[in-house]
Parts: sequence; C-alpha cells; structure tokens
Amino acid sequence: MSNKQPLKARKVSFSWEGTPLHWVPGDPFTTHTINVLHLLLPAGERWFVHVYKQVLPLIRDERLREDVIGFIGQEAMHSQAHDEVLPHLRELGLDPTPYTAQVDWFFEKLLGDRTLPPGRARKWWLLERVAIIAAIEHYTAFLGNWVLNAGELDRRGADPTMLDLLRWHGAEEVEHRSVAFDLFLHVDGSYRRRARTWATAFAALMFLWQRGARFFMANDPTLVDRRASFKDFYAAGRRGTLPATGDMLRSIPRYLSRAYHPSQEGSTEQAVAYLASSPAALAAEKRAE
Ligand SMILES: [Fe+2]
Ligand SMILES: [Fe+2]
Repeated sequence: MSNKQPLKARKVSFSWEGTPLHWVPGDPFTTHTINVLHLLLPAGERWFVHVYKQVLPLIRDERLREDVIGFIGQEAMHSQAHDEVLPHLRELGLDPTPYTAQVDWFFEKLLGDRTLPPGRARKWWLLERVAIIAAIEHYTAFLGNWVLNAGELDRRGADPTMLDLLRWHGAEEVEHRSVAFDLFLHVDGSYRRRARTWATAFAALMFLWQRGARFFMANDPTLVDRRASFKDFYAAGRRGTLPATGDMLRSIPRYLSRAYHPSQEGSTEQAVAYLASSPAALAAEKRAE
C-alpha cells in the first residue's frame, strides 16, 4: 500500500531565541523526556538515510522507490531540524555533547556498515537494519500521532515553537508511516525477522531514552531534584504531558500481530491538516515559491 500523495520534504526552520529551558512551564521532567528526541533523532535519522540509500537498488517497484526517496528527504530534514536545537540548549547551560557522542557511536558503529564481505552476510545485515527501521517507525508514528493529539501540552502553555517542531515532525511521521514497513515487506517481510528486530529496536529505544532523560535531568543547571524515574514517566502519562504507559504497552501486540499494517495507525487527514496550518511548514512553503 503506497501513499496517495507524493511525499515531499518541507524545508522548515525555527528560531529558538525565545524558547525557555523548561519549555513545558514548571515541568522539567516532561521537557527533558521530550528533549531526548533532539539527541536521538539527528543521528538516528541520518542512519535511516544511510541505510536506505543502500537499499534503493533492491527496490523493484517504482511507486515504492518514489516513497522511499520522499521518506529519505523528510528524514534528512527532521534530523537537521532537531540538530539545530542543540546549540540553543548549550547556550542555556545544558551541553548534550557527552550523550550525543554515545548515540553517534551507537548508530555509526554498532548499527553501521561493519566490515562485511559483499554477498550473503552483507545482505543479511542490510535486511536486518531495514527491519529495525520499520520497527522504529512504528514508534515514530505512535509518537507523532500522540503529539498531534497532546492537547495537555497546549493547556500547560508549552512553547509554541517547540510544539510546532514536534507536530510538524510528528505529522510527517504519520504521513509517511507506511513506507518503512512496505519496504521491509518488499525486500524480505519474514515474520521472524520482524519479531526479532522489534525486540532489538524496542530495547534500544527504552535504553537510550531513559539514559537521555536521566542525562538531561542530572545536567540541568537549574534543578535541585535531579532524579528521573519510571514513576515520573507514568505520572506524566496520566496527566497527558507524555504518552500513557498503557497506550505504549498496547502498541506492542499491534506491531507483532500478523495483520499489522501502519496504515491502521493514526490519521493521515489529521497529519495533512496540521501540515496545512503549521507555522514552520507554511513559512517553508512561502520561501519555496
Ligand atoms: Fe522523522
Ligand atoms: Fe519517519
């Protein structure tokens, strides 16, 4: 199943001068848990692009190839937009370099090309990574759908520029949510690989995310209580400032169901509607005219 509309990268840009350190007012834990995206996505989405460029020659379907090329364009832009938040965090006294160095190692070395001879081993590792990306995209679509509907962040006065970054990105994740899975089905599609790589992706995301949130909390120069626990996460989920733990747990069997397809998750109409009103996406459209 392919997207009806061709996927296009919107060349957004944001100015961060007015965004405070705790951009969800009075809620450093929520702020920093979401800030982990700025640490993981630049390296993670660069890695998607790196892997997908190697897969392009294996695609035997023109429609899917176009989708993958559109996907590459969108992910490259996402990676750049999140990267541009980091200098602002540094100016506010929160230097993420020690953590991003670990994330870079994770994507470039652990999940990188490895020195494999051309042939079966190299192909196996490429297919494995295509499946890992499909599993991660289950979560980027989940988070995108969540943030588009996270009215509690608006009610609490979250910074509008940050919300627009998250929702522009989230909406594009919902928009292209089927591409990675369709690509996986096209080049391999084995259920065992899907289940195995889901476990890898889920464990890695949980590990990196909680470490990132702890890193930010521990290095936030303004905080006295610097702890971050699962209890805080659970409580934020109940308030609606972060995804609810129950929703996250329920998303697991959906991905592992043999009937799964990402088109059943989230709403393209809602994503497209947000993109039609996003200040950053509108400004990008104007610049492109
Ligand atoms: Fe993305
Ligand atoms: Fe994505």
